[in-house]
Amino acid sequence: MKIIHKPNYKEAKTTDKRAYKKIDFQIDQEQKNVFHGKTYYLKTYGCQMNEHDSENIKAILEELGFHSTDCMEEADLVLLNTCSIRENAHNKAFGMLGRLKHLKETKKDVLVGLCGCMAQEEGVIDEILHKYKWVNFVFGTHNINRLPDLLLENMRSHEQQIEVFSREQDLIEHMPVKRDNPYKAYVNIIYGCDKFCTYCIVPYTRGRQRSRAKEDILEEIKNLQKDHYQEVILLGQNVNAYGKDLYENYKMENLLEDVAKTGIPRIRFVTSHPWDFTDQMIEVMKKYKNIMPAIHLPVQSGCNRILKLMGRRYTKEEYLKLFYKLKEIPNIAISTDIIVGFPGESEEDFQETLDLCKTCKFDNAYTFIYSARENTPASKLIDHTSLKEKEDRLQRLNAVVNTYFKESNERLLNKEVEVLVEGVSDKKNNYFGYTDTNKLINFTGEHVPVGSIIKVRVLDAKTWSLDGKAV
Ligand code: 5AD
Ligand code: SF4
Repeated sequence: MKIIHKPNYKEAKTTDKRAYKKIDFQIDQEQKNVFHGKTYYLKTYGCQMNEHDSENIKAILEELGFHSTDCMEEADLVLLNTCSIRENAHNKAFGMLGRLKHLKETKKDVLVGLCGCMAQEEGVIDEILHKYKWVNFVFGTHNINRLPDLLLENMRSHEQQIEVFSREQDLIEHMPVKRDNPYKAYVNIIYGCDKFCTYCIVPYTRGRQRSRAKEDILEEIKNLQKDHYQEVILLGQNVNAYGKDLYENYKMENLLEDVAKTGIPRIRFVTSHPWDFTDQMIEVMKKYKNIMPAIHLPVQSGCNRILKLMGRRYTKEEYLKLFYKLKEIPNIAISTDIIVGFPGESEEDFQETLDLCKTCKFDNAYTFIYSARENTPASKLIDHTSLKEKEDRLQRLNAVVNTYFKESNERLLNKEVEVLVEGVSDKKNNYFGYTDTNKLINFTGEHVPVGSIIKVRVLDAKTWSLDGKAV
């Protein structure tokens, strides 16, 4: 039977408050190992949320009997977990589909699937239905749990299966997970986003804000501790909104405190929207040493007129006020995201962004050229700035922010920093890991236990990394 559920933006945009049912993921006994001996190749694009979804997808595939291969040409199943955030991510996935078309011509029985954020786009699904009829199956961000049924249905009927829901479904707990890193683990705390920044496609591809129950989060973290994980990264599009949709009196600061009390050595959380950052959160961060002094706080622009057009809900002054409060946390590193070339951004507006960067001296910044996304309000705005001009702004912005990354690294010269050792590099006695402030450090040492947290003296500071020696 051919299943077709297409995404619909009107429905995706609705903001009714629903009660979400929680259901436990289960693979039917007769589905286990049906694909025994088959291989899969999973390609992941985009953010940590997608990376973590892929960790679930891998585990589901392996319960079905698949094992992974690094060689796409050899795989029996190729699955693309896609990203919609900017056009280049989009183009990369379509480029890959082009390669897969050739593969399908020589290897007819390879199964090709597409999932992730692009699957939630109306335009993408229309293209797949008309131009990519050979793609075997598509599922969205709200129904990863349906992967076993879709694969089996495909095997039976050989018809294209498209199952994408516009709005979020039940909250699925206890999905299996095959984690990429044995020392640090992603833990979802909230799904979706209700902010609807005017340039952003995420609220359409990931649905409304839904918090996971605190008991489920804490249980997951306690199990990670038993498995000797050293670090958890609490994940969400806007983690600071945690709890708002679920509890009267339990917010991000309460969750952070409860996670800190588990005693897991390192805690991080991404991404924070300045709007929901409370003073209580800052107090909790100061109180617990295992909450890492590193905050990602996207500013997007330093110009109030553009911030308003972006729908960001804060002014430059409000951002700075929060920024300075965070700076009171000892040794804190603050990173940000910045978009240049938003429709209507003038040279003067851009200069305000440069000025803000000179004020904040961010420890790290991810900088992007604005990319119009299907159906977003910003995509309907008139945009007179040429791409060449936008590229020039990006270069000028990068030149400014890069100098501060190096300065921020140089401040650590000759100091001892705490490092979670993540692995051995190619050279003998060379290791790498991340500092508490999330800086990459390459260092020398002897018999250093990988997976432990040790002290390293910083001997050299580069723009993107540090060099050092184990103490
Ligand atoms: N164009 C460019 N950058 C974008 N981002 C989100 N949407 C867009 C877009 N349409 C950036 C923002 C966000 C980060 C994850 O991606 O800076 O914080
Ligand atoms: Fe997109 Fe804004 Fe939500 Fe971040 S807060 S995911 S930029 S809508």
